[in-house]
Amino acid sequence: MIAGTGRSAPERVLTNDGFAAIGIETSDEWIRERTGIRSRHIAGPADSVTSLAAAAARGAMEAAAVNAGELDSIVVATASPDHLLPAAAVELQAALGASRAAAFDVNAACAGWIFGVTVAEGLIAAGSAETVLVVGAETLTRITNWKDRNTCVLFGDGAGASIVKRASRGRGILSAYTRSDGTLAKLLWRPAGGGVNPVTPEALADGTFWIHMQGREVFKHAVRSMADACDRALDAAKLSSDSIDLVIPHQANIRIIEATAKHANVPMDKVYVNIDRYGNTSAASIPIALDEAMRTGRIGEGATVLFVGFGAGFTWGSLVVRF
Ligand code: UT7
Repeated sequence: MIAGTGRSAPERVLTNDGFAAIGIETSDEWIRERTGIRSRHIAGPADSVTSLAAAAARGAMEAAAVNAGELDSIVVATASPDHLLPAAAVELQAALGASRAAAFDVNAACAGWIFGVTVAEGLIAAGSAETVLVVGAETLTRITNWKDRNTCVLFGDGAGASIVKRASRGRGILSAYTRSDGTLAKLLWRPAGGGVNPVTPEALADGTFWIHMQGREVFKHAVRSMADACDRALDAAKLSSDSIDLVIPHQANIRIIEATAKHANVPMDKVYVNIDRYGNTSAASIPIALDEAMRTGRIGEGATVLFVGFGAGFTWGSLVVRF
């Protein structure tokens, strides 16, 4: 079960109108109409995946009344770690002083938190953990090409954290569904910066170091896969959409969210939306939305929540959780 949640976002906020000042030819109207985004948080010099993840984790631990020494595992979902080696999770472990925890990352891009919670559930089922911290944390704006208007208006930074414990009294994960399709990897990727095309001055100059996305293609796959993921998780939980109290989808584009809700036959007032204030924070988007929903009373005891996400890879998945 999800025993506590937390979130964190950098203080600096960039509104759609702010792009003009950095020479990007775009408009508030285009961004709002095509994506639903109004503003996003941008990491400042003092922010990092570790600092954002630690702040979110402290909130989740406090909400779950768990201290760092009680964590058996730390799973960090991120596509923008502070260092390529070692894992972001061990940096978080050190920041929290969670000395007993086994710490590792899950790289499943925007679906990362869903994959991370699924892994946490598996660790608990296998008997190797009782208390798992799962964090989605990103500083995507540091791997964004700030000269490419197709992508730079979309992303934001932040972290969301959740404490996962063994299910009790009917509360917990009712179903989980995860899928991937690596044949489509190059529709959303970073061509350089890894072992095959290391970072070079040329890779920085020609933009291959940064995120590349074929937006329209990704959009089509996102709509299809998120619809499929909703169906699969509901079927596996033997529930119809009427029994869902809230849907928390990955926040990439309001039009994708609306299409997903329509397919699942869930009215938009049962769908959590905060893309307007955060943009796309990849693995952090769902756990940030979850924490907002918890702290504003949108999720009460006994509520059934459908989570659904899609991202680079492609990776996609869903969870049905009873709180
Ligand atoms: O997080 C997980 C994965 N990511 C996603 O799920 C994102 C999926 N994709 C999308 O959300 C949308 O495809 C975008 C928001 C990225 C783009 O929206 P679109 O409706 O698919 O636009 P488009 O890429 O087809 O571009 C339409 C036009 C183009 O102009 P022309 O060629 O029609 O003259 C673009 O150059 O909009 C132009 N454009 C912009 N105009 C103003 C692209 N970006 C901008 C911009 N401001 N920032």
